[in-house]
Amino acid sequence: DQTGQATIGVIGLAVMGSNLARNLASREGNTVAVHNRTTSKTEALVEEHPEAGFVATETIDDFVAALAKPRKAIIMVQAGAGTDAVIDQLAERFEEGDVIVDGGNADFHDTIRREEALRERGLHFVGCGISGGEEGALHGPSLMPGGSDEAWEVLAPALRSIAAVAEGEPCVTHVGHDGAGHFVKMVHNGIEYADMQLIAESYDLLRRIGGHDPDALADVFEEWNGGDLESYLIEITAEVLRQTDADTGQPLVDVILDQAGSKGTGVWTVQNATGLGVPTTAIGEAVFARALSSSEDHRDAVRRTFPDRPDLPEAPDGFEDDVRSALYASKVVAYAQGFDLIRAGAEEHDWDIDLAAVARIWRGGCIIRAKFLDRIAEAFDDDPSLVTLLAHPYFADAVRDGEAAWRRVVALAATSGVPAPAFGSALASYDALASERLPAALIQGQRDFFGAHTYRRTDRDGVFHTLWSGDR
Ligand code: NAP
Ligand code: ATR
Repeated sequence: DQTGQATIGVIGLAVMGSNLARNLASREGNTVAVHNRTTSKTEALVEEHPEAGFVATETIDDFVAALAKPRKAIIMVQAGAGTDAVIDQLAERFEEGDVIVDGGNADFHDTIRREEALRERGLHFVGCGISGGEEGALHGPSLMPGGSDEAWEVLAPALRSIAAVAEGEPCVTHVGHDGAGHFVKMVHNGIEYADMQLIAESYDLLRRIGGHDPDALADVFEEWNGGDLESYLIEITAEVLRQTDADTGQPLVDVILDQAGSKGTGVWTVQNATGLGVPTTAIGEAVFARALSSSEDHRDAVRRTFPDRPDLPEAPDGFEDDVRSALYASKVVAYAQGFDLIRAGAEEHDWDIDLAAVARIWRGGCIIRAKFLDRIAEAFDDDPSLVTLLAHPYFADAVRDGEAAWRRVVALAATSGVPAPAFGSALASYDALASERLPAALIQGQRDFFGAHTYRRTDRDGVFHTLWSGDR
């Protein structure tokens, strides 16, 4: 009878939960109790994986009874109502000191609310961002747990045992209290959107202006993966471009409908960024670019209205290198904006988030894993109070080196009619931040004119209002 012997439990045995449970079971020291609302799924998992030594449980009561104290349960069910339902079931049965982990993609506001409610009942609640999709869950994800220090102490050995390993370190850190982990996971996904959009724009420019076919472009991305841009997303880009459609013999990318979907975490990132006043413009462009691609009616109407498009020019010498430089510089801006947002969220919610540690746990397991993140970790290690990555000497040099190419690419995209919204907005963000004066002065004047909103002056302290001479 294994009752009370399981060191940890997993509830929710769809793709993510099953893989996470198998990962846990494969590591020394873990005995894993598993449970799913629909029992047949529990039975199927246990049958398919006898090697895991799972403790199968039919009811929630069985599941709770199977866990050794302090009990630890990871919930991997549908975010939202499903998660709330399972939390309630566990909370009714768990006792003081037990730990409930939500590994789904929860809205961090929900995590803050749930943590507070459970804390009042003496229970620990941990919102844990999990990145790396199915493969990551099985072989080693990047884990972003947020919750109390006590909960982290209880959970750390199990989480460390299953996390991806980068440079010898497990890709998990105690991100901060309550919603900090899910907040950081949300920003991770926002950065992922921006990175994917920048790569997609590079592909489009090289294809339409550079004249390369998908196979040749796969070579280009493969080559780029050997340098500063080395990352999982560049690597899979080459693979996607290399793929041929079995039915038509065409490059697969040419038969995939060009309408990008989204599940919502990118939208959340932008909503929170606007609320906090953090201009994450590259992430915003990426979210809007997906929405635009799916606006069938608008695309159709405008395409019919403007059938005459600018002629595509011959690619200028060095165009491929220019695009690579533009991609790198834009990527620096996008990541800088993401880390700016994490810092702003930490200030708003009183989380003590170590930005270098966040960069380090993203080096393995997750979708944005890249060599680049080592540099980001080093930058924040060098100077934890660094205002923004763009101001760090390493990244400043990278941007300076790529600047001329970046401008050439954005200019050529504009004159050629090839949309490069994320490249363009990243460059505009950099130019705005680097400008001595911004036209915001004129906006303040306009606001004071029509609404007496007042303005501040460059030469004196205080708040001013002008009696404008206009007829109003
Ligand atoms: P999912 O399709 O999001 O969820 C299915 C699971 O939730 C099933 O086990 C289902 O049980 C259970 N469930 C739904 N409503 C329930 C309720 N009211 N009570 C009890 N159980 C309920 O599964 P998933 O794709 O494995 O994802 C799990 C979580 O991980 C989600 O929050 C997801 O956003 C997050 N996530 C997913 C990925 C990914 O790549 N897919 C990556 C990272 C994180 P039944 O079998 O009984 O229906
Ligand atoms: P990761 O951190 O590994 O990216 P994720 O946030 O769950 O994990 O997202 C992985 C991929 O699965 C993304 O393409 C995501 O869609 P979005 O691009 O729209 O964010 C997708 N994804 C996430 N949850 C999903 C779900 N429940 N069902 C299907 N796809 C999902």
